[in-house]
Amino acid sequence: MTKEDIQRVVIAFADGAALAKQAGFDAVQIHAAHGYLLSQFLSPHYNHREDEYGGSLENRARMVLEVLAAVRQAVGEDYAVLIKLNSDDFIEGGLTVEDMLQVAELLETAGIDAIEISGGTIWGPSQFHAVRFAPEALTHKTYYRKAARLCKAFVRVPVILVGGIRSLEVAEELLTEGAADYIALCRPLIRESHLIKRWAADDQEPSGCQSENACFGPIFAGQGISCVLK
Ligand SMILES: Cc1cc2nc3c(=O)[nH]c(=O)nc-3n(C[C@H](O)[C@H](O)[C@H](O)COP(=O)(O)O)c2cc1C
Repeated sequence: MTKEDIQRVVIAFADGAALAKQAGFDAVQIHAAHGYLLSQFLSPHYNHREDEYGGSLENRARMVLEVLAAVRQAVGEDYAVLIKLNSDDFIEGGLTVEDMLQVAELLETAGIDAIEISGGTIWGPSQFHAVRFAPEALTHKTYYRKAARLCKAFVRVPVILVGGIRSLEVAEELLTEGAADYIALCRPLIRESHLIKRWAADDQEPSGCQSENACFGPIFAGQGISCVLK
C-alpha cells in the first residue's frame, strides 16, 4: 500500500464509525485481529515495510493508532471506541503476546475505551483460528484466557475476552479470576439470541452451541446467519 492508500483506508474507517454512530449503535469496534488489514500491519509475519509503517512495534502500530485517532475525531470523546486485538497470531514470525501487551499500552495512551482479546489468523492453522471448530468450550477452556489475564494486569482500560465461552459459570469464573472485565459471545448468540436474558431469568443451562461452525453455511448460501443445529 502507498501512503495515500493508507490514508484513504484511515478515512474510510472514520467514515464507517460516523455512519455506525448515526445509525444508532452504542459503540464501534476497530477490527485489528484475525489477520485482516490492521492485524497484518501489526504482525511482523505480514508487515515487511521499510518505511514508518513497518519494522519496530511503534511503526507497525502506526496505522492502527491513526485509525483510532480518526475514528475518535469522527465520533467524539463521549462515544465508546473498542478494538479487537490478536493476543497471538499463532504463525511463524507473527505477533506475540508480548507485542500485544505493548500495542495495548499504546492504544490505552491513545484513548481506546476497551480491548477485546482474540487471536489467530484466517490463513493460519485451524486449531488456532478465532472461530475454532474444536469444541474446547465443552472442556471448559476458553481460547485466550491467559493472554487476557496478562493484558488486564498490564492496562487499566477494560479487557473483553471472546472465544469458546459457553456457560454462565465459565463467564463468571473469568471475571472473578481477573482474566477479563467483560466477556463476548458470538456463536452462542447465533444459536440463541436471548441467551443472556435466559441466564438472567434464572435458567442457567449452558448454551447449546457446539462450536462446529455450521452457522457459516447459511451465510455462504446467501441466506443470512442462523444456527442450523436441531
Ligand atoms: C459466522 C461468524 C462470523 C464472524 N464474523 C466476525 C467478524 O466480522 N468480525 C470479528 O471480529 N469476528 C467475527 N467472528 C468471530 C467471532 O466474533 C468470535 O471471535 C469467534 O466466533 C469466537 O467466539 P465464540 O466462540 O463465542 O463464537 C465471526 C464468527 C462467526 C461464527
